[in-house]
Amino acid sequence: MSISAPEIRSRKRRNGASPIVMVTAYDEPGARYADAGGVDMLLVGDSVANVVLGHTDTLHVSVEEMCHHVRAVSAAKPNAHIVADMPWMSYHISDRESVRNAAALIRAGAHSVKLEGGSVRRDVVRAVLDAEIPVMGHIGLTPQSVLAFGGFKVQGKTLDAAKLLMEDALVLQEAGVFSMVIEAVPPIVGTQITQALDVPTIGIGAGPDTDGQVLVFHDLLGLTNRKPAKFVRQYADIGKAITDAVSQYASDVRNGSFPSESEVYANPDELLN
Ligand code: KIV
Repeated sequence: MSISAPEIRSRKRRNGASPIVMVTAYDEPGARYADAGGVDMLLVGDSVANVVLGHTDTLHVSVEEMCHHVRAVSAAKPNAHIVADMPWMSYHISDRESVRNAAALIRAGAHSVKLEGGSVRRDVVRAVLDAEIPVMGHIGLTPQSVLAFGGFKVQGKTLDAAKLLMEDALVLQEAGVFSMVIEAVPPIVGTQITQALDVPTIGIGAGPDTDGQVLVFHDLLGLTNRKPAKFVRQYADIGKAITDAVSQYASDVRNGSFPSESEVYANPDELLN
């Protein structure tokens, strides 16, 4: 049995819990390796749009495409909790449609869904919860708001903006989310929201005091060609390892050293006569 939403809900650091570790995953090998690394949560993020599919933002993935990636992640049968992003326009039209879309992600293998936005999402969060689907919130720099924000910009930088974010967090908690991502805010905002909430916060560029941290798999492993955000720590250079390995393979094919005798099947005697 994978880690459940109630188990995550209970992971408040101030009550002695260890920090929640979340990483994105978009396919079976990624989920398998991340799970073996001991993460608590795998986020099938709509960041698949820019990280894997080559778009410039997250506005270009559908529920069907997200389900395709959720199925692949779920095939790894991870111990980690799988949370799936509800993509843009999948929870903006009506509560009925939002519940149907959340259910599709659950049937594809997710254990909960995440949606972006603050107070304005109160009713849709309640509607999805009414269908017994756990919901994670996401406030601060919500990438689906890139056009409205005019770019990927740090949020909560003024007193008024910080107060609005605090209000958003409290409304989402009251609506029933089991945890909340806080993205790209000054650390004091991450700290104060974390202190004000009973549900755990998971930060990405929200400072050291949130109840957990999340990073994008490809950023952590050095698999992107985009300039990393300030909050990214790169733990490996897998991109370079891939290029080196493929270039060695190309060279071995070209110089005739691949395949070697040990890499071919034995010729049957009958064919040799
Ligand atoms: O889709 C994603 O990768 C996310 C993280 C940035 C939290 O939502």
